[in-house]
Amino acid sequence: MRPSNHPDQEVTTINWQAFKLILPYLFEFKKRIALAMSCLILTKIASVYLPFILKDIVDTLDKNNTNEAAALVIVPLGLVAAYGLVRLSIVIFAEIRDTLFGRVTERAIRRIGLKVFRHLHALDLDFHLTRQTGGLSRDIDRGTSGINFLMRFMVFNIVPTLLEIVMVVTILFVNYGIWFAAITLVSIMLYIAYSIFATELRTRYVRAANKADSSSNTRAIDSLLNYETVKYFTNEEYEAQAYDKQLSTWEQAKIKNRLSLFALNGGQALIIAMAMTAMLALAAHEVAKGEMTLGDFVLINAFMMQLFMPLNFLGFVYREIKGSLANIENLFGLLAKTPKVQDVHDAAELTVHKLNDHSESEASINFNNVSFAYNEKRAIIKGISFSVNAGKKVAIVGQSGSGKSTLVKLLFRFYEINSGTIFINQQDISQVTQHSLRTHIGIVPQDTVLFNDTLFNNVQYGCPTANKDAVLKAIELANLSSFIESLPDGLETMVGERGLKLSGGEKQRVAIARTILKNPQILVFDEATSSLDSESEQAILTAINKVAKNRTSLVIAHRLSTIVDSDNIIVMNQGEIIEQGNHQQLLALNGQYSKMWQLQQSSS
Ligand SMILES: Nc1ncnc2c1ncn2[C@@H]1O[C@H](COP(=O)(O)OP(=O)(O)OP(=O)(O)O)[C@@H](O)[C@H]1O
Ligand SMILES: [Mg+2]
Repeated sequence: MRPSNHPDQEVTTINWQAFKLILPYLFEFKKRIALAMSCLILTKIASVYLPFILKDIVDTLDKNNTNEAAALVIVPLGLVAAYGLVRLSIVIFAEIRDTLFGRVTERAIRRIGLKVFRHLHALDLDFHLTRQTGGLSRDIDRGTSGINFLMRFMVFNIVPTLLEIVMVVTILFVNYGIWFAAITLVSIMLYIAYSIFATELRTRYVRAANKADSSSNTRAIDSLLNYETVKYFTNEEYEAQAYDKQLSTWEQAKIKNRLSLFALNGGQALIIAMAMTAMLALAAHEVAKGEMTLGDFVLINAFMMQLFMPLNFLGFVYREIKGSLANIENLFGLLAKTPKVQDVHDAAELTVHKLNDHSESEASINFNNVSFAYNEKRAIIKGISFSVNAGKKVAIVGQSGSGKSTLVKLLFRFYEINSGTIFINQQDISQVTQHSLRTHIGIVPQDTVLFNDTLFNNVQYGCPTANKDAVLKAIELANLSSFIESLPDGLETMVGERGLKLSGGEKQRVAIARTILKNPQILVFDEATSSLDSESEQAILTAINKVAKNRTSLVIAHRLSTIVDSDNIIVMNQGEIIEQGNHQQLLALNGQYSKMWQLQQSSS
């Protein structure tokens, strides 16, 4: 259907752009499409041929009847058998077509789905922090079902119906003259125009009903998710009333929706009835005149029934296709988003040679006058410069919110810095591929989030190709073994959504094990022991020190006792470095660090 011969084009604006977007994905199976289309044409030829057999049967019966000599009606067995065969072949061809084309649609959905998924991972952190993940997955879901719907109804409903209309109108014109053809054509046009018009009108009600439906759902889910909070405040009744209010909106919207559906269906039925009556009256008149046989009458009736039947769902199909097109466009809209952080053209790989027992680390880090802001109105990092020599341990301390974790995000290049340069092994990290950059850095983040999978798989995630022994060794090093031994399911224990079934300290140790397994040249610990008691902390610090030996490590810590042995300590305040030096030097300086140290000493 081209927009140019789309009836009622003024009122409705369907965006066919989306159709063009998926087209390239459909041509992976050219032969299949050709076969499916041949089946489609065969189905339609067969179904247009069917009324002709019916007509022959009726005419034969009719002739037998009028022939007084033959009291016995001779049943035209051959014709009846042909009728059955053609009916069967219609179904078979349609099934073959569906089977052949289904594959095309599914492959397109797979390709597009994967492409979007990859693209989402390529988009920057800021995009993901800003968008709701739930909303994203709904967009993908709706987009792919949109493709499915569009294909199903385009190929299996709209195109065949159009083909049939053209064939039937031509046949009527050739065999029975202009009037039959004209009535059919006009009534179908009228029917389509009315359906689209009425559907447009009722869209408002349908939308209101859907909205009410989803907001009552959201309300219920939100309430159940907050189960504990509801109980803490004994607000069950309040929640029930809020839910019922949403339900009653939904009920009202549904009533209007149903009434508008009644108007749509009623109008459609009226148009069909008028068209049928006109056609049959005309045909009856011709039969009476002797210009047509009884069989012709039956044939015309059969044609009309056959034509209007698939049009029954037109309102629904029209609305859904419109919705599908919008959803598909939305999905492709995601693909059109460009990541804010991108590899430069011909980006080189970051080279930092792997350590062996004799070699020295090459992984030095330099921040050179780096400034950064998440939002231009508020500077977070203000012209920071510092170096971490290869193989050394540097600590960053400072008030909460001073920008410590932000420095790490910049090191991973999750954001583009506003000015300055960050070097690793003398290579500007904005000039190398993000992939190579990130393979060389391992992090134990401030809040560790785990996959809803087993403990083993969560640790193995650090290096999916690692064998079981390596994973166990990492677990041992991270001081997790005794915890795992105490679990009834051991390594196979599921950690729950986002790892919520583990304590904070256990999660951190999983993160440490994971990073040990990744075996990177640069290690970052962002409050890696913040959730631990002093005893476990000591154990992990020993582990960390063992792993960090000869590697470059950046340790962010609130508890200064954990970083006194660092080669260099950087003290941050509101995005700036206010002091740096080793523990002794900083104490001697008698500044901010020394104050923090004394405060922590006295409180412990
Ligand atoms: N994605 C973001 N968008 C906007 N502002 C952010 C974003 N992430 C962090 N910030 C802000 O940047 C500032 C520095 O945050 P950062 O996480 O670097 O602090 P921090 O020094 O690690 O603090 P803490 O010790 O509490 O972990 C904070 O004020 C924070 O609100
Ligand atoms: Mg932080």
